[in-house]
Amino acid sequence: MAHATDAPALLQARGVDKIFPGVRALDGVDFALRPGEIHALLGENGAGKSTLIKVITGVLRRDGGDLFLNGREIDPHAPAESERLGIAAVHQEAPARSTSAWLRTSSSGASRPASVLCGAER
Ligand SMILES: Nc1ncnc2c1ncn2[C@@H]1O[C@H](COP(=O)(O)OP(=O)(O)O)[C@@H](O)[C@H]1O
Ligand SMILES: [Mg+2]
Repeated sequence: MAHATDAPALLQARGVDKIFPGVRALDGVDFALRPGEIHALLGENGAGKSTLIKVITGVLRRDGGDLFLNGREIDPHAPAESERLGIAAVHQEAPARSTSAWLRTSSSGASRPASVLCGAER
């Protein structure tokens, strides 16, 4: 079996931008998630972790850059659309404690998660 980091990216973001009025939340984000990998997005409040998850899952529209799933360009406009592609986000809301968003992608509809991306904040 190939080492996880040699495998082609399951999910890839290339040069992703998201601009809100007065703030560039994402500035040319490059990211690759390969099968079986687990990534943690770490950053202070406002770093853009949630925005990246929201762009990947179609909650927010990106202003630039490209998204690929298994090498094919995707352009999710809504969470239901990304879910159909096998991308799922589980948002946790615990007031005064923590919030985190998990992204699971499963290849070809497999029920177990192929990869997990976790963004967490205090
Ligand atoms: N819906 C929104 N409207 C305007 N600004 C936003 C919105 N969502 C996030 N931002 C801004 O984008 C930046 C990144 O926010 P966010 O992705 O929530 O960061 P993190 O999850 O890392 O704390 C922050 O400056 C935040 O204020
Ligand atoms: Mg956040």
